[in-house]
Amino acid sequence: MALLGSGCRDEPGMTGRGAAKKRYVDPLRPAPYCAAFAKSTGTPMTDTRAPALIPENPAFLNAKVLWVRHWNEHLFSFAVERPASFRFRSGEFVMIGLPGDKKPLMRAYSIASPHYAEELEFLSIKVQDGPLTSRLQLIEPGDELYMGKKPTGTLVLDALLPGKRLFMLSTGTGLAPFLSLMRDPDVYNAYDRVVVAHSVRRVSDLAYHDEMEARLAEDPLVADEAGAQFHYVPTVTREAFRNGKRLGAMIEDASLFTGIDGAAALDPETDRVMLCGSTEMIRDFAKSLEEQGFVEGSNANPGSFVIERAFVG
Ligand SMILES: Cc1cc2nc3c(=O)[nH]c(=O)nc-3n(C[C@H](O)[C@H](O)[C@H](O)COP(=O)(O)OP(=O)(O)OC[C@H]3O[C@@H](n4cnc5c(N)ncnc54)[C@H](O)[C@@H]3O)c2cc1C
Ligand SMILES: NC(=O)c1ccc[n+]([C@@H]2O[C@H](COP(=O)([O-])OP(=O)(O)OC[C@H]3O[C@@H](n4cnc5c(N)ncnc54)[C@H](OP(=O)(O)O)[C@@H]3O)[C@@H](O)[C@H]2O)c1
Repeated sequence: MALLGSGCRDEPGMTGRGAAKKRYVDPLRPAPYCAAFAKSTGTPMTDTRAPALIPENPAFLNAKVLWVRHWNEHLFSFAVERPASFRFRSGEFVMIGLPGDKKPLMRAYSIASPHYAEELEFLSIKVQDGPLTSRLQLIEPGDELYMGKKPTGTLVLDALLPGKRLFMLSTGTGLAPFLSLMRDPDVYNAYDRVVVAHSVRRVSDLAYHDEMEARLAEDPLVADEAGAQFHYVPTVTREAFRNGKRLGAMIEDASLFTGIDGAAALDPETDRVMLCGSTEMIRDFAKSLEEQGFVEGSNANPGSFVIERAFVG
């Protein structure tokens, strides 16, 4: 495990545990946000209120928030303590929520941590008038959330047939399940090449860019494998960036395959594809993949591609 400093540690706005001491942390765990950043984005400062504890509910687990990082005004990450009883497969999602008027207000969230992690990390949108995220974006370390007891999902190794290259194609918060899978050693055992492509509107939407650009070099478990097998393909479609094409266009002109061993096109015999993102992206890609001979997989019937919407709407 890597021993990292917590970043922004001298700032009063630090939102993680133990501002003054070092501790073992997940290398993809972002540094807590700085006071200056919190101020500039209007994010409420920390250490100013008591933790928000919630009543127990037999249907859910109570999970304590460990840290929060705001990427921009639309996006943040947070982690909760992993309840001892909680098991999941890398790539699955779980219900997360807060107390509601009559019953808890719950939404599906992909777990961004790999299955062995001690903390459960999430990457979240901030929908300003969203019933859950208008409130969830205000969480602070020490607060409690509700968490479902039964994770599930199709973006798992079990739903794919064996292959040589794994392409994980995401838009927006659809990156979340791939953050889990890219840190799972089983993924590197199963595939020779592990590709994560992330399409976003703005440069600041490229969450975890630096860690992926460095090929997970700080990861205690997969750094060696990722150094040889992992490929990160970011694209920013509404701001200047070195790459500005949509993922479909990058497959068509073969630029998505630059530097990756094998053919400069998808092959249903040897390539496996996971899709997570907007409904339109998934619909367009699923249609195109099926036309090329790919078959959608499920937990019961593994196939050559799998899909999960990153949100409904
Ligand atoms: C299987 C599954 C996994 C999911 N995993 C995640 C995840 O890891 N991270 C995450 O942030 N959300 C995820 N979502 C979406 C999440 O369940 C909620 O919709 C989101 O938290 C917003 O909740 P809300 O109550 O504030 O607004 P909602 O009423 O749920 O949504 C309002 C509107 O906001 C937009 N919206 C909602 N979620 C997103 C999003 N993620 N990206 C872009 N636009 C969105 C849509 O237009 C939607 O109609 C997932 C959804 C599904 C079905
Ligand atoms: N992210 C922001 O800065 C921002 C700002 C204001 C509001 N919002 C709200 O957040 C919601 C979601 O925004 P988001 O940025 O997370 O997701 P998004 O609108 O789905 O865009 C994310 C990425 O997916 C691409 N994309 C969209 N449809 C695609 C398709 N069919 N095939 C291939 N690529 C596709 C987009 O390219 P294109 O850019 O070419 O569409 C963009 O690069 C929006 O509906 C909006 O209400 C977001």
